[in-house]
Amino acid sequence: MAESKASLSIEGKELIELPVLSGSAGNDVIDIRALGSSGYFTHDPGFMATSSCESQITFIDGGKGILQHRGYAIDDLAKKADYLEVCYILLNGDAPTKAQYDEFSKIITNHTMVHQKLVYFFQGFLPNAHPMAMICGVVGALSSFYHSDLDINDPKQRMRSAHRLIAKMPTIAAMAYKYSIGQPFIYPRNDLTYAENFLHMMFSVPAEEYKMSPIVAKAMDRIFILHADHEQNASTSTVRLAGSSGANPYACIAAGAASLWGPAHGGANEACLNMLEEIGTVDNIPEYIAKAKDKNDPFRLMGFGHRVYKNFDPRATVMRETCHDVLKELKINDPLLDIAMELERIALEDEYFVSKKLYPNVDFYSGIILKAIGIPTSMFTVIFAMARTVGWVSHWDEMMSQPGQKIGRPRQLYTGEINREFVPLKDR
Ligand code: CMC
Repeated sequence: MAESKASLSIEGKELIELPVLSGSAGNDVIDIRALGSSGYFTHDPGFMATSSCESQITFIDGGKGILQHRGYAIDDLAKKADYLEVCYILLNGDAPTKAQYDEFSKIITNHTMVHQKLVYFFQGFLPNAHPMAMICGVVGALSSFYHSDLDINDPKQRMRSAHRLIAKMPTIAAMAYKYSIGQPFIYPRNDLTYAENFLHMMFSVPAEEYKMSPIVAKAMDRIFILHADHEQNASTSTVRLAGSSGANPYACIAAGAASLWGPAHGGANEACLNMLEEIGTVDNIPEYIAKAKDKNDPFRLMGFGHRVYKNFDPRATVMRETCHDVLKELKINDPLLDIAMELERIALEDEYFVSKKLYPNVDFYSGIILKAIGIPTSMFTVIFAMARTVGWVSHWDEMMSQPGQKIGRPRQLYTGEINREFVPLKDR
């Protein structure tokens, strides 16, 4: 893998020669692992120039707007596969045969129910608790059901954990919603697809079955596909770091959900809808555009910009299409959606956004679709977490299977006090 060498000099004096590694695509990386022995560390808060692992799952070229899972382009997957097929690909590396797909669907379907004792965990939450708080708590609680007999060094057991997580997340997510609105929990149905089953658990009530729109089910499935994985983002890195200590995978996924919740990551879809509500009318848009451009104002246009994609977000391209289809098909007449469409138009033309390459990202359009199909704003990030679970668990499995896997332990640049004399409290 090593092709060339990089040398690091300090004040003209060569300190160390380091190997340069090439992957199958993307940037070469300077392997700095030997640097520690030289008495220096690298300093890279925010990991702007740091590769934290070797992975074969997802490839992103932000400059070219490329996103591939196991080598398959995201727009191909979004248009030609369903979510469970994408899950299979992420977990196993190749597209399934028909028999493998059927077997996988059956396994996931057969794991959708949760232990009845898990259901009681919800009772401890206030009904107005944020559903992401419930997800962090209840998914973490799964670790208490699957711990003592779980051997994380056994690939088959790791795969079983992955199947359970993918299968149970929609059940737990829908329960969080039902709990928050005071409706009884609706149990999964094995005759429905993954997306249909989620909609059923969200919107059916014991007195009335939910009338499934194929357009809505398709849009939901596409949202799941487009959120399934995204390389080493904050939540995936959190799962890897938590898992690197050998921690229980269900607890690691809860850690990933906590990281996802923030507005700079998966919380952006909710923050985006809240922002549209705050803007209120199309007439107020210029004022908010001005706020977003003002360096002294912390306000940012939620759903715009991306750390990696600096030309366009390939997920947003597919999501935009779906968004416009759903709005047209459902004949939605919602002033918030008018604001969103006008914001999209202005931001795509405005010099500030164009020059900084701030395009609408996947969360901008997913938020609009979810709102149009009747999902409450507070559930947006939960849906992201549900869909991303396969990515998290695929990365956890990959990390655990790598020989020589080490606990993650970054170092720091210390700038605090040193060598202070401690004076006992009575003398201070
Ligand atoms: N509105 C206004 N200005 C912005 C925005 C925005 N949404 N995003 C970035 N900028 C400006 C920023 O002020 C900076 O300007 P300058 O160069 O003059 O200082 C420049 O663009 C670069 O921004 P940055 O913060 O250095 O970029 P970053 O790569 O650290 O941040 C980001 C990426 C996604 C956190 C940021 O664009 C942002 O906060 N966007 C809004 C939140 C959002 O939609 N997040 C979802 C990301 S997609 C889902 C996911 O993968 O999690």
